[in-house]
Amino acid sequence: MIKTLLRLGRGLRLLINRAIRQQELFDRFPGVIFGDGVLLLGASRFFPGKGVFIDHRAYLNCAGGSWNKHPGFINVGDNSEIGPYSVLWGAGGITIGSNVHIGAHVSITAHEARQVLPNQTDVSQPLSFEFAPVVIEDHALICSGALIVPGVRIGHHAMIGGGSVVTKDIPPYALAVGCPARVIRFSNEAAKPGSAVDSIGGWDPLNLHANERRSSAVP
Ligand SMILES: CC(C)(COP(=O)(O)OP(=O)(O)OC[C@H]1O[C@@H](n2cnc3c(N)ncnc32)[C@H](O)[C@@H]1OP(=O)(O)O)[C@@H](O)C(=O)NCCC(=O)NCCS
Repeated sequence: MIKTLLRLGRGLRLLINRAIRQQELFDRFPGVIFGDGVLLLGASRFFPGKGVFIDHRAYLNCAGGSWNKHPGFINVGDNSEIGPYSVLWGAGGITIGSNVHIGAHVSITAHEARQVLPNQTDVSQPLSFEFAPVVIEDHALICSGALIVPGVRIGHHAMIGGGSVVTKDIPPYALAVGCPARVIRFSNEAAKPGSAVDSIGGWDPLNLHANERRSSAVP
């Protein structure tokens, strides 16, 4: 009987804590819809637009910590969605444009650990990391289970197939699939590399310089 009561008490406490965390998210970011159980770390470096949707159990780590000296940030443009169980590591800076769809279980990381050296046998030694920003432009669609590694830029209206590992920049309008992701077609033939439209270039839908200013303005 006592054990049951203790268990009920613990369950209730967990529910209350979760409700409080959820309420804190709603209060701090009223323009964002949060699913249940979203974890947002480094909230002062999270810069969402309007109508952003972050689905159940997504994990967003917007900043570095004692493990690095990188400030980091996660910018998410208007009406973009991040699917359930997706993980975003923003220590190197992640910029997501507007109207971007990110499926379930997608990993986007702007930092990665260096390989442990052969003579390094002390597990208490910290890992060393490299950082490089990730940019996902407007109207991109990242299917479930994809992994985006540091330094990659995914062009506007590009699509990444389910489970793909994106290790290089993907041009606008491209459909890229596989591990490593390769472009298999373009939704806008005129945008193929070397075409007239492609050579115009120079469109910066994310206004990245503004984003950089915004992130560096944060203490
Ligand atoms: C990317 C995707 C939409 C492409 O669909 P499609 O246009 O019908 O592509 P096709 O079936 O014509 O495939 C073309 C080629 O790419 C390969 N391919 C397609 N998707 C792939 C993927 N995710 N990973 C690796 N290869 C893939 C196919 O095997 C095929 O190869 P082949 O020409 O050697 O036979 C689809 O395959 C996909 O990944 N869907 C994921 C859906 C999803 O995650 N939904 C939930 C959130 S959005």
